[in-house]
Amino acid sequence: MMSPAHLKYVSLGVLVLQTTSLVLTMRYSRTLKEDGPRYLASSAVVSAEVLKMFACTVLVLVESNYSLQEMQQLLKEQIVKKPVETMKLAVPAGIYTLQNNLLYVALSNLDAATYQVTYQLKILTTALFSVSMLGKRLSLFQWLSLLLLMAGVTLVQVPDPTHPKVLTAGSQFVGVMAVLMACISSGFAGVYFEKILKETKQSVWVRNIQLGLFSFVFGFVGMLVYDRHSLRQAGMFQGYNSVTCAVVVLQAVGGLVVAVVIKYADNILKGFATSLSIIASTLISYFLLEDFHPTGVFFLGALLVIAATFLYGYERKPASIGAIKA
Ligand code: C5P
Repeated sequence: MMSPAHLKYVSLGVLVLQTTSLVLTMRYSRTLKEDGPRYLASSAVVSAEVLKMFACTVLVLVESNYSLQEMQQLLKEQIVKKPVETMKLAVPAGIYTLQNNLLYVALSNLDAATYQVTYQLKILTTALFSVSMLGKRLSLFQWLSLLLLMAGVTLVQVPDPTHPKVLTAGSQFVGVMAVLMACISSGFAGVYFEKILKETKQSVWVRNIQLGLFSFVFGFVGMLVYDRHSLRQAGMFQGYNSVTCAVVVLQAVGGLVVAVVIKYADNILKGFATSLSIIASTLISYFLLEDFHPTGVFFLGALLVIAATFLYGYERKPASIGAIKA
């Protein structure tokens, strides 16, 4: 078994890989030109929730060494017989469902790099929620790194005069608004989930099943309402192909990794770790997808974001080493 300190870094590393692959695959899947209807983002969100709940159930089974019957009993006791505890998860579930749908809107309108750097603003919202809801204290350097982060994200938004976007200005605006809303939702839901996980003793997988149950219901209803016309015409799985399946699997894996990171590290550190995946997706987006031409200002902005990441992490180190030893 890995120690919590190991799990912390392994999970952060896996998160970087998962974030990079998800962003690129999702962007690719939304720009892929194929005959027939494109897959419904709302349906992909629901599929990912189902897959995630299935994976969590298997994990509970593996972790506890229970038989299927014993596990059924455990889930009944932990989920059905604790309605108040279960209901607490309805809040982040609703918010995450909205967020998961918003991210598709964002990636349908923004290139992968612009999207990822802008989404880094969630570190700021997460920090603000961590301070107000968890009572976390940040040092001067950490606040400074948050300012640097905002400056970097703003620079990345500066348009490139030599490569006017093929997309309309309107869709860039829609994309940025979707990311900004997702930043607020990510910060709040993440900190709320961290609070629930750290305040009670229930297993992280059971908590994730509770979260998934609500997310499934919200996502399903959202899909029925928002995409009712398309659903009537071509069904829930219209336009699914191998890339769609990859997006769904990556999104489900992401949910599991995020839960582990929140448990063993924390939300702010999680945000900074994903900054590293910006470098990877920028390079891949540039060389492979060719849908993005970085300007000097973009590089400066990205550099500020990355510098902010290290500045924030640098301050934390002594404290976290102490915390591990203790
Ligand atoms: O960008 P952010 O880190 O907020 O993304 C969190 C993602 O992880 C969302 O897609 C959310 O649905 C998922 N998640 C999850 N289970 C958790 C926490 C988050 O599936 N316990």
